[in-house]
Amino acid sequence: MSAAAPRARMIVDKAFKIAEVDQRIYGSFIEHLGRAVYGGIYEPTHSTADNFGFRNDVKQLVRELNVPIIRYPGGNFVSGYNWEDGVGPVDQRPKRLDLAWRTVEPNFVGTNEFMNWAKEVGSEVMMAVNLGTRGVDAARNLLEYCNHKGGSYWSDLRRSHGYEQPHGIKTWCLGNEMDGPWQIGQKTPQEYGRLAYETGKAMRLVDPSVELVSCGSSSTGMPTFPEWEAITLDHTYEVADYVSLHQYYGNRDNDSANYLARTMDMEHFIRTVTATCDYIKAKKRSKKTMYLSFDEWNVWYHSNDADTQIEPWSVGPPQLEDVYNFEDALLVGSMLITFLRHADRVKMACMAQLVNVIAPIMTENGGRAWKQTIFYPYLHTSIYGRGVSLQPIVDSPVYDAQDYTDVPYLDSAVVYNEADEEVTIFAVNRNLQESLDLECDVRGFEGYRLVEHIVLEHEDLKAVNTAAEEKVKPHSKGTAICKDGYVNARLSKASWNVIRLKKEHSN
Ligand code: AHR
Repeated sequence: MSAAAPRARMIVDKAFKIAEVDQRIYGSFIEHLGRAVYGGIYEPTHSTADNFGFRNDVKQLVRELNVPIIRYPGGNFVSGYNWEDGVGPVDQRPKRLDLAWRTVEPNFVGTNEFMNWAKEVGSEVMMAVNLGTRGVDAARNLLEYCNHKGGSYWSDLRRSHGYEQPHGIKTWCLGNEMDGPWQIGQKTPQEYGRLAYETGKAMRLVDPSVELVSCGSSSTGMPTFPEWEAITLDHTYEVADYVSLHQYYGNRDNDSANYLARTMDMEHFIRTVTATCDYIKAKKRSKKTMYLSFDEWNVWYHSNDADTQIEPWSVGPPQLEDVYNFEDALLVGSMLITFLRHADRVKMACMAQLVNVIAPIMTENGGRAWKQTIFYPYLHTSIYGRGVSLQPIVDSPVYDAQDYTDVPYLDSAVVYNEADEEVTIFAVNRNLQESLDLECDVRGFEGYRLVEHIVLEHEDLKAVNTAAEEKVKPHSKGTAICKDGYVNARLSKASWNVIRLKKEHSN
């Protein structure tokens, strides 16, 4: 390797185990919002539509991402949703005003149709219940409708709707962002804690096998963070299995070095929520460990101005349609790396969202579907990031940004897939001016050889993909070599890297 690039060193070893990666950290989210459902996954007049009206071209892209779990039906939408509106004969379903997004909800797609779609794309569903305008009764009825075998009012109603077998939905969110003033039916932490506890208690009586997510803060910027977690978990600790975290970032002041350091905030968020959970655990003398469900995360800011111009009360308007650029893909890669480094506590995470609405997949109504820039780091981690997350010991040069100091240029995570005898190094070079020479000690992985070094790079941080042209896409011409127990690679300036190693067997 020729001289003069800054250097970073890493040591990777099987013994430095953080935890088995829970595949549900590669989850996503479909909300009844904008064109996520109507014009996104569902468009009966589209040339690729199946018998239920779902677009096959979109299904194909979702399958490619191998999404293990999808949160549904909201989001802010769920806090005003009557789930009963979305079941039974479609022509008898009411049209309702959705106050969260000021649209008309036609209820063409509801619980059963979504469960069908999710099965088709190979995903489980994380169902949210309405704790905004509703409560214990609606939640326990929905669970009975979905999960009870039969012989009761709600389960027999499901059967009469043509779904003989229960859906068996395992994971349930106890409301959404109940700390937010924008939420329909916002609660104080005491009000939410009591309601969530009683709802969870009733739900467990219907089906003891469910896993429940207690609402955490809507972002680190909330004035009630982290007091919200401390008070609500005091109520819900014994009934819930996870607490939720939500966070979106944006490069509003066009300071890319600072923007790429935003995962320092995410680190702080995860550490603070973990500490708060453990404080409640100690306070309650509980043996149970609370896990984290980062069930909304992404970049969200490009569409903010356009959204103020949208006329209210239509079906499927183009809301939250962020067009992602190359630097967004780098930050998304770093966010995924952050989840991997916290694999011991973050067990679920949902990229918000999946189609059209702040999403890796975009569609035209009646037309094409394509991959946004952020599709790629999501794809790579979802495909190659399954196994055990290993703690890399990293020595990297650092920089200071507007809001953060000592930001390592090298942001990395490592996953060891023992069954497939593969090791994958995920790395972002945050340096916007220079490449970074990485030397990684992998002597603990004797007999491993390089499979490929995938790189996502682009001269223009603001480059975007459109239906007509995919400007930002990965190549496999990275410089990594693996020799004598060391991987050496030159990581291009501002790049996302996936370095794949596999054990070589002679014969
Ligand atoms: O994902 C978009 C919105 O962001 C969700 O509806 C809400 O929960 C969050 O504020």
